[in-house]
Amino acid sequence: MNSPAMQGLNLNTPAYVKNGKLIAWVADMAALCKPDAIYWCDGSQDEYDRMCQQLVDAGTFKKLNPAKRPGSYLALSDPSDVARVEDRTYICSARKEDAGPTNNWMAPADMRATLQPLFDGCMKGRTMYVVPFSMGPLGSHIAHIGVELTDSAYVVVNQKLMTRMGKAVHDVLGTDGEFVPCMHTVGAPLAEGQKDTTAWPCNPTVKYIVHYPETREIWSYGSGYGGNALLGKKCLALRIASNMGRDQGWLAEHMLILGVTNPQGKKYHVAAAFPSACGKTNFSMLVPPEAGFAGWKVTTIGDDIAWIKPHADGKMYAINPEAGYFGVAPGTNMHTNPNCMRSLDKNVIFTNVALTDDGDVWWEGLTKQAPDHLIDWQGKDWTPEIAKETGRKAAHPNARFTAPAAQCPSIDSAWEDPAGVPISAFIFGGRRAAAVPLVVEAFNWNYGVYMAATMGSETTAAAFGAQGVVRRDPFAMLPFMGYNMSDYFQHWLDLGKKLEASGATLPRIYTTNWFRKGEDGKFVWPGYGENMRVLKWMIDRIEGKASGNEHVFGVSPAYEELNWTGLDFTAEQFKTVTSIDKAAWQKELELHAELFQQLAYHLPAELTATKAKIEQRLAA
Ligand code: GTP
Ligand code: SPV
Ligand code: MN
Repeated sequence: MNSPAMQGLNLNTPAYVKNGKLIAWVADMAALCKPDAIYWCDGSQDEYDRMCQQLVDAGTFKKLNPAKRPGSYLALSDPSDVARVEDRTYICSARKEDAGPTNNWMAPADMRATLQPLFDGCMKGRTMYVVPFSMGPLGSHIAHIGVELTDSAYVVVNQKLMTRMGKAVHDVLGTDGEFVPCMHTVGAPLAEGQKDTTAWPCNPTVKYIVHYPETREIWSYGSGYGGNALLGKKCLALRIASNMGRDQGWLAEHMLILGVTNPQGKKYHVAAAFPSACGKTNFSMLVPPEAGFAGWKVTTIGDDIAWIKPHADGKMYAINPEAGYFGVAPGTNMHTNPNCMRSLDKNVIFTNVALTDDGDVWWEGLTKQAPDHLIDWQGKDWTPEIAKETGRKAAHPNARFTAPAAQCPSIDSAWEDPAGVPISAFIFGGRRAAAVPLVVEAFNWNYGVYMAATMGSETTAAAFGAQGVVRRDPFAMLPFMGYNMSDYFQHWLDLGKKLEASGATLPRIYTTNWFRKGEDGKFVWPGYGENMRVLKWMIDRIEGKASGNEHVFGVSPAYEELNWTGLDFTAEQFKTVTSIDKAAWQKELELHAELFQQLAYHLPAELTATKAKIEQRLAA
């Protein structure tokens, strides 16, 4: 008696939907969530425009001034719903050991019993949207399909920009194609006749972001924000995909992908993992300095996620499974990231930035001088004077833009190539005020894996919780690993071993830190476009043109090896960002030991051996 039809709810399945499993699942979920209506998204522009208008009518969206920011909207979220919730995120594998010590875990049956009453009737008074999407180019052999059921129209329009969303996905799915079921609700059912009292319905107190790796399912409750709600991104493309990658011999990584072409026209591809809000979007859209880098070009393949597969030719090929950017607004401006700014000219959804009096957007760092008056991200009046008195920010530090990737001026012509691009180097970079040098090349693959595994970084506003606290963030994947972290280290080591055995030249592995601070508390390294100087040194290394200085855990550039044309950066300053302090590194190694203790189960012996070698060199 529980079927939607029995409750008088029409499934409304369009004729082009032919996948029996999908239709049955939607029926089951409708019976559970009890929405007032079901709507199957076709992904058309017309549908997008209609839903944006609907969000405007509901007060969730404000349409921005079309003369300034055509086709763009601003959403202000509930103050309780502004970032990922790592302490509410679960990997519910059958065995606790398979989730590992870095993930929250609950037995699948217990979690299902917990979620059942929460999802029962969770969409009352709302519409259930059926959102079919492809991570990766539609129909390509590397793509994976997901279907998100959500009661949030905000999620639907964001998914339209972030993924290949719509009717064509059903053609690929056919009658029995596979898809990852992604359940999402804001967790705010409405009683008969009840209306929303807020423009951002969510559940301020109960949130669950749940993954069942064995059955490849995602269940998200209570949040409408970012990675909590756009389930194709961190939930599918990282946590579930990392499980697929382990089983099938590939990698799902929190990495940007860029192309770098030298003046002779030779092109390299680099994939870089920096933790959340630590510079991936910026590095992927880097504009080389004008002076000293004529003829150099950086092109953007992806800014957040990479799926990387070894190929028969021995190379590792990377694709960007996303179709849009969900990027950090604060700090972005025409000087630090002009390619990003141009991507934001039109057709953008802004969330939690400030509104200007002429209907445009503003955030900290957009212009040197703040406008005289704004409506801040909480909908309150804001002036520079108020900010001075109260410290209140105009934009939330985790304010974001959602923009189509195709709008990026530096987009690489191969960004949608299903074959991917061959990777010549991996970079792992943290945000560290002290101790960690600007750039290091690992001695070899295993050293590189060690450095990635032990990477530390200061926490940022991308996740709820304290900020600026140094924590280990292995491979920039701490919040995104879908299985045991030590097994994942082993997977990286095994992949390297396998490729090397086949005679392949492995990608080089580097670490970077753009964020070292001086005694004045300011960043010493200018960063952004100037990071090109470091990127070029990496290419020089690959081409055998730079010998570097060997130290305890790798090779770093001599001052003379970087091209300084057009930048006033003294050897003394260089020393402050590259020096390796013995005492600081002994402390750092203690933190590595702590991590290894936590990860002792299945920790690869190669990593403990590498640690011992570094300790010996440090003591010498
Ligand atoms: P997620 O989308 O959270 O995964 O972040 P991301 O890694 O893409 O970070 P993003 O490029 O958006 O940068 C986050 C913040 O760091 C922004 O405020 C940037 O302005 C700042 N930032 C990026 N690159 C640099 C850099 O080279 N130096 C300095 N000092 N700041 C940077
Ligand atoms: C991150 O936190 O790394 C992001 C933003 O890229 S979110 O999509 O919210 O995860
Ligand atoms: Mn990210």
